[in-house]
Amino acid sequence: MGTRAPESAGFTESTGVHREAGATVTVSISRLDAAELGGDGSILMRQRRDHARLDTMMNRWPACGSDEERDALWQDIVQLVFSHAFAEETVLWPLLRRVASHGEELTGRVEEEHQAINELVARVEKSPGDPRRSEWIEEAFTLVRQDIRDEEDELLPRLRDAFGDRRLRRIGAAWEAVRATAPTRPHPGVPRRPPGNALRGVPLSVFDRLRDLAPVGGPAARRTALVACGAAGAAGVLFAAVHAARRREHH
Ligand SMILES: [Fe+2]
Ligand SMILES: [Fe+2]
Repeated sequence: MGTRAPESAGFTESTGVHREAGATVTVSISRLDAAELGGDGSILMRQRRDHARLDTMMNRWPACGSDEERDALWQDIVQLVFSHAFAEETVLWPLLRRVASHGEELTGRVEEEHQAINELVARVEKSPGDPRRSEWIEEAFTLVRQDIRDEEDELLPRLRDAFGDRRLRRIGAAWEAVRATAPTRPHPGVPRRPPGNALRGVPLSVFDRLRDLAPVGGPAARRTALVACGAAGAAGVLFAAVHAARRREHH
């Protein structure tokens, strides 16, 4: 870890260092190497990798040539943004509220960003012909970029301060497991905090993932899912099936 010393309060843009009176100097995780972040499997490395993927995809957006390419890229961005954020809301932010002194305020800010991104993307998806669509998409990208900065510079360093390498890797594994079954679409009506987000969000992820597998007409996919739900009798069974299908798809 970097040098820590008591400093006056404030955030220094140029160094990416947050200074708290009489406390530690929290170093942005973007400035630390893999060993300092707890190794490849740690939550901090997993977050940074996803953020880099998102950044690359958003940077590719303006250069997208065909509608087909644009649609495929949009789906990839949406799936990664929402599964990533849902797992943060479920696993990381409750933990951060317990260990960080300004945890409530810090997590409240990113939850607001997540909510705004949910609302914008839902609006984009509901209004295919609206001329303001590209404006909303740009706005959503700006918020995603802001969210990444807040997390890497302010929130995630608090986890580095609070936990050892082994704990950071265990948190990473838990976050990844939740992300693997998380909703992949915007759900602005679902609360951003547990238990409400899990109670209402997890069942929706079944519909989201079926729609991702066969993105032809939402209502039909929803009907198929309802029939399948009835037959299986439990969302867990359907989860397992959807995941097996996705795995096969990737091999
Ligand atoms: Fe993140
Ligand atoms: Fe986030």
